[in-house]
Amino acid sequence: MTTHLEGHRPAPESCREQDIGRFEILHSDGRARLGKIHTRHGPLHTPALLPVVNPNIRTIEPREMWNRWGIEGLITNSYIIWKHEELSQKAKQDGVHQLINYPGVVVCDSGTFQSYIYGDVEVKVEEIIRFQKEIGVDVATMLDVFTRPDMSREEVKKGVELTVERAQPSLLAADGMMVNGPIQGGLEWDLRELSATSMSEHGFSIHPIGGIVPVMEQQRYLELLKVMLSSMPHLPQNRPVHLFGCGHPMLFPMAIALGVDLFDSAAYALFARDDRLLTPWGTVKLEGLEHWPLTTPSLFGTTPEQVRAMDDGSRCRILAEHNLDVSIAELDRCRQAVTDGTIWELAETRSQQHPALREAFLWLNTLSKSSEKTDDENRWNKAHEWILEANVAQRGGGVRFISHESNNRPWVEVARKLLHQRWKASSEGNNVLIFYGRSGPWREKVGSLVRRIRAQTSDIEILVHTPIGLLPWALEDLNPFAHIQGSSMLYREEPKLEWCKRELSNMNLEPEKIMLLDMNNKSELMDAIILEFPELQLHEDHEQSDEDIRTIEIEQGIARLALFANLDPSIAVQELVGCTFIHTRTGRVKNILLNDGRHIASPRMRDGGLSMTAIGAEWIHSFRKEPLPEEFENEVLEMNTHKGPPWVVIDSDAVPFVKEGRNVFHGFVKAVDSWLRPGTYCHVVDEDCQLVGHGTCMSTINGMKDHNKGVAIKIRNGIK
Ligand code: GUN
Repeated sequence: MTTHLEGHRPAPESCREQDIGRFEILHSDGRARLGKIHTRHGPLHTPALLPVVNPNIRTIEPREMWNRWGIEGLITNSYIIWKHEELSQKAKQDGVHQLINYPGVVVCDSGTFQSYIYGDVEVKVEEIIRFQKEIGVDVATMLDVFTRPDMSREEVKKGVELTVERAQPSLLAADGMMVNGPIQGGLEWDLRELSATSMSEHGFSIHPIGGIVPVMEQQRYLELLKVMLSSMPHLPQNRPVHLFGCGHPMLFPMAIALGVDLFDSAAYALFARDDRLLTPWGTVKLEGLEHWPLTTPSLFGTTPEQVRAMDDGSRCRILAEHNLDVSIAELDRCRQAVTDGTIWELAETRSQQHPALREAFLWLNTLSKSSEKTDDENRWNKAHEWILEANVAQRGGGVRFISHESNNRPWVEVARKLLHQRWKASSEGNNVLIFYGRSGPWREKVGSLVRRIRAQTSDIEILVHTPIGLLPWALEDLNPFAHIQGSSMLYREEPKLEWCKRELSNMNLEPEKIMLLDMNNKSELMDAIILEFPELQLHEDHEQSDEDIRTIEIEQGIARLALFANLDPSIAVQELVGCTFIHTRTGRVKNILLNDGRHIASPRMRDGGLSMTAIGAEWIHSFRKEPLPEEFENEVLEMNTHKGPPWVVIDSDAVPFVKEGRNVFHGFVKAVDSWLRPGTYCHVVDEDCQLVGHGTCMSTINGMKDHNKGVAIKIRNGIK
């Protein structure tokens, strides 16, 4: 019979030599990412939880973590090993993996935490790195200076400076080994920023954010959030970020949503020793429990009473197992949420289950509303922009509306910005009709009425009220506006006039007349329109011609080209004269053809987007006026209205492959336009401005600059 200790899960194979130390992004959702760290002891898939293993006290055997929980990496402490003669000898002789009997990735800490707990440590900066190299760790940690939240600014500053001073000697001693470069700075936001910027300049493989254990112990989650937001935007995107000492699963969703890749946890064992159970929404005492708050494989078949009756060792063991079960399960849930594009929604859900987390999450939501004032507010506004710029506006699936804050999900904000910056009204916009009261699809509810109005006048702008903003009729099937999963109550109330005016002003409309029309009351709304615009013939028996339908379809084409290809609507207006539309059996536009028959694009039913053809890409390419971009400039979240699709200039080595339709990989991008954003349609050009392909951008501008592995542009068509 095999046991957990005997290794029924095979040992990992080393990653390819040329990839060792690299961090590859496999999938992202805003700032959240699923990645892979390549090591000699196999890949470490992120986000990951590295259980803390004390070589002297093992609550759960590392081999069991590998076999039973499938844990790919753990963290132990080189200072403890160094200090104990017997451990040190064995580690030097057999290596750290043998010492703790674990085949996966071993990360080692340096003794900094011990200096925080016990005062100074006697080991030297280079000495602890050399020791870690000698015992064969996969990722070492330099001896940083722990900056406590209660330190004076001067002390924190010294800690940051000393840590930076030690960076280069540590890396020299590491001689190619992967090293953690911790970010310090206490609760001094500018020093966090300085620490991140300075540490980034050195060749570290991973950046842990340090000095946060007391902040977490005191449940000061708003400050924890500020620590993350003052550090992370200043770190290179090709290096994983580790929250040092963070192992409570209730913090995972929010931290992952902001881009944290690694956690480490002694919490599973520490809480177990204290007779406490972890859950994704907090911690529960065993004492007084009649039923489990959450059952896990480790707890099945037992009752709290039975566990209370166990001897100390068995009780601690079963609670530690449960705590690890819960942590791994929450991490898995987060990974799936990143895959599904719902990590922010999960963070929102979890924030509703704990007051301190709620405070942090609500503050995060105020960022979208504050205007720049003090230096501090300016900092958080920039951090907010940093979150937004990684978000994809156009995607499938709707918005599950679960709270007030659902309206502020970053990708929803980005979708609104895209609409506000790129949509242009086709009329003067003096008269505005706003339909409200029902969820979509609105074409089935008032589509024929709108067509009749549109065919008779272009002087009225028609929009629909949605819980996340007003939507121009020409984009009535646009995701996420048209795909909100929420209570019908969200649509019931008449929108406030002030809110409508603000929304319209965001779309550059300052109408003289705004009419609000309840879709639940068709005859009344007809009467109201006729009263206001007596010249209009609105009754069903007024015949609709093909030309009436075409008017709307052209408007839709212009609006989509403006939003998704960033094409100037005045160009589209001219170019679409005489165009034709191919329809689906249900009468929706399938293909858009220019007047000479060239098929340029197809509207996407799934998300209200637009798919360009290769011919369409060449057609749009001919309108470009901007010069070839020369760098990776990334200023503000500016969609640079109507300058065309952003260009991605690639290395000549990659050109023949892209022409054949192959993707562009990181490392081959030489420059990009400043309005490039992940998920957007872009054009790939060579250094002579020749279009060689078109597709979807997979990364932020900084990501394009920093990453050296993975797909940068998913090519739809190569162009020869
Ligand atoms: N473990 C928890 N916090 C820290 C930190 O700030 N530095 C190091 N090296 N280890 C830690």
